[in-house]
Amino acid sequence: MVISEIKKGVYGMIIHDWDRKLFDELIPLPDGTTYNSYFIRDEKNVLIDTADPSKTMDLVRGLEKIGVDRIDYIVSNHSEQDHSGSIPEMLKRFPGSRVLAGEKASGLLQSMLLIPPEKIEKVKNGQSLSIGRRSLVFMDAPWAHWPETILTYCPEEKILFPCDLFGSHLAESDFYGRSDGKLYASAKRYYAEIMMPFRSNIARHLEAVEALSPEVIAPSHGPVHRNPSFILDAYRDWVSDKVRNQVVIPYVSMHGSVAAMVDFFTNRLIDQGVGAKPFNLVSSDVGELASSLVDAATVVIGSPMVLTGPHPAALYATYLFRILRPKTRFASVIGSFGWGGNMLKMITEMLPGNIEVIEPVIAKGYPLEKDFESLAGLAGKIFEKHEKLGLT
Ligand code: FEO
Repeated sequence: MVISEIKKGVYGMIIHDWDRKLFDELIPLPDGTTYNSYFIRDEKNVLIDTADPSKTMDLVRGLEKIGVDRIDYIVSNHSEQDHSGSIPEMLKRFPGSRVLAGEKASGLLQSMLLIPPEKIEKVKNGQSLSIGRRSLVFMDAPWAHWPETILTYCPEEKILFPCDLFGSHLAESDFYGRSDGKLYASAKRYYAEIMMPFRSNIARHLEAVEALSPEVIAPSHGPVHRNPSFILDAYRDWVSDKVRNQVVIPYVSMHGSVAAMVDFFTNRLIDQGVGAKPFNLVSSDVGELASSLVDAATVVIGSPMVLTGPHPAALYATYLFRILRPKTRFASVIGSFGWGGNMLKMITEMLPGNIEVIEPVIAKGYPLEKDFESLAGLAGKIFEKHEKLGLT
């Protein structure tokens, strides 16, 4: 754990989970993660967000180090257990405390954490609460990334506590982010996995946050931002409609036919000046794939036929592509089959609905000269599409 006094009487506790490898049993965490909790000492003492239940005792130790003997309010910006999971223990240790949460959060906190309803006080969008010489302003931020999420702002200190928003799954010993490539990559990956499906909501929340001009952004995962423009500029780019001259190619190959097609296709794109990134789904990190989807203009899925449909790994990647809802403009499919099946239909039906599908290339068995010509044609069409968007 690393503790820092951000401003006089405002403490941040970054509780490391160095060894956590997966989040939601889905998202790989190559750099572990952290659960950040914040404490404000004033006439009313406030704890903002807690920690994953597995780290409750770390939070207790952090509060002891700061010398906390009373908590009046526990602000729950977000009901997911990695931030709210230690609230029940906090309520036991500080029985005079009450939970402040968004209007939609009360039911979730009751059902998931068994917090008694009489301990929860709902706060409204825009509501300001005086805690002494400071105040807290609560802002609804639905779908960042749950429907009940709120952001908490302390105007006197100009500190924003946005919970998941602007966070990163990055366990480091530094309290403040270094605004470097590592933090950028972690934050982008985090945005892709958590926030991207709600891009238009995030764009609205971003505008609201920018209007506050915070001096510090203190998320509940990863390092604290004391250079807010670093993360705000990055988010502005990610939520915009801008796409890059890049083709992402998630693929799987059983006997080398699809691999040969992907290899030829990738090199053809590169020769034309189009960025290309193949992801062999057998060994790829799904978080890296998600991150690459944030701004790529085109996605091409590669799959062989298995029994009557696509390889399950290709179907899984297509499903992720659909539910992550990136701003991708174009998609296509390349693949190989032995004797029949519904691979193409199943993949194209699962593609996001608002995407332009460019004619796929499917080979029978190992690709022949005509198939490589078709792949060259597909690369050419993608180049033209990108060129029309002014990307090349
Ligand atoms: Fe970090 Fe949605 O919880």
